[in-house]
Amino acid sequence: MIVNFTLNGRPVSRDLPPQKRLIDVLREDFLLTGAKESCGEGECGACTILLDDKAVHSCLVLAGQLEGHRVTTIEGLAENGELDIIQNAFIEHVAIQCGFCTPGMIMSTKGLLLQNPDPTEEEIRIALSGNICRCSGYVQILAAVQDAAKQLREVAKA
Ligand code: FES
Ligand code: FES
Repeated sequence: MIVNFTLNGRPVSRDLPPQKRLIDVLREDFLLTGAKESCGEGECGACTILLDDKAVHSCLVLAGQLEGHRVTTIEGLAENGELDIIQNAFIEHVAIQCGFCTPGMIMSTKGLLLQNPDPTEEEIRIALSGNICRCSGYVQILAAVQDAAKQLREVAKA
């Protein structure tokens, strides 16, 4: 079926099998390999992207569900070659080790801060509870999210 949707701000149209998973559409049809597959069952969060500004697991979304929707991947965050505030905060707080979980962590953070610019620590923990990291410390990730939220609030005020 022909599927029309917006990918990282750009309208796209592709002939896709309706049952093809979004993670495979992104990686195979659009060569966007930022979203990672680990569990393939909605348990790990490595494949997280935004669907209409909400963080979802792209291994659980099918091509047939995309018509008219907006998909944002980690590749869609940088502007003019500059990483965005959340990406920079993860680097500054050393919230990354192997980096396999990081695109998903950052997209879950993006989704959270779009809905809730001033989250409590508990709200951050809940928002990231679907993202598993096997090698970094969650303490640094929490600090990165809190710092990014603060910086984004300051930008919004300016
Ligand atoms: S690969 Fe999608 S949640 Fe794990
Ligand atoms: S940094 Fe390695 S899994 Fe999170």
